[in-house]
Amino acid sequence: MNRGPYLFLGAFVILAFSWTAAILANQLGYGAVTPYYDDLAGQSFPAKQPGIVARGAQVYTDLGCATCHTQQVRRADLGSDLARGWGERASVGRDYIQEHTVQLGANHIGPDLRNVGARIEDVNSFYQILYSPSEDSSMPAYRFLFEETEITGEVSADALSVNSTTSHQVVPTERARSLVAYLAHRNDTYAYPETNFIPPEPEAEEAADAEEEGH
Ligand code: HEC
Repeated sequence: MNRGPYLFLGAFVILAFSWTAAILANQLGYGAVTPYYDDLAGQSFPAKQPGIVARGAQVYTDLGCATCHTQQVRRADLGSDLARGWGERASVGRDYIQEHTVQLGANHIGPDLRNVGARIEDVNSFYQILYSPSEDSSMPAYRFLFEETEITGEVSADALSVNSTTSHQVVPTERARSLVAYLAHRNDTYAYPETNFIPPEPEAEEAADAEEEGH
């Protein structure tokens, strides 16, 4: 008996099913999400990214920061991100829709950076972390993002105070400036309707399971 058509049909059904679940369902769910217009604020969220932030995203991608940092705050029932202070709420799909390349990352070697702009408000602190991260951490120093120049006239406004001397200043390059603009822009605090999600209490769930088993 020729089983060719059955094999073909089986493979086709499996592939079609996977494609529907993995691609089509996500495209229908997230692909259709649009910015949320807030009548009171008179603007849409998430806002469009300024050009410098989009360029910073490219630097973040090029330097592989996502190897050690995630940009996704998990729900309280899926991890301890909220307890660690990495955000006020869990990330939702709408947070990412203005971004060309989403840098979710997979490893928590460093802290999650999705809301680092809310934690670190001073631009100079960002430069300091990139130029000389704390010594006991595995975060590499990105000194090539800075230039050491002789001070001839006035000191540059964003020269690193810690590392500059009276004769020389350490000044961020254009790449460092856009990367830091990108980091400072990581701040998802807007409460979309879908962020009102309240995860079920684990105990309540267990009690419900026990009750179901009893019946
Ligand atoms: C090899 C892993 C590694 C890589 C690559 C890395 N980092 Fe880090 N990063 C860390 C660790 C670990 C810390 C925590 C340091 C500490 O707390 O002292 C950190 C801390 C930070 C912080 C401070 C966060 C906070 O909440 O205090 C920022 C900002 C940051 N990194 C940005 C970056 C950027 C931007 C890049 C890419 C240019 C990058 N990191 C690449 C490991 C890494």
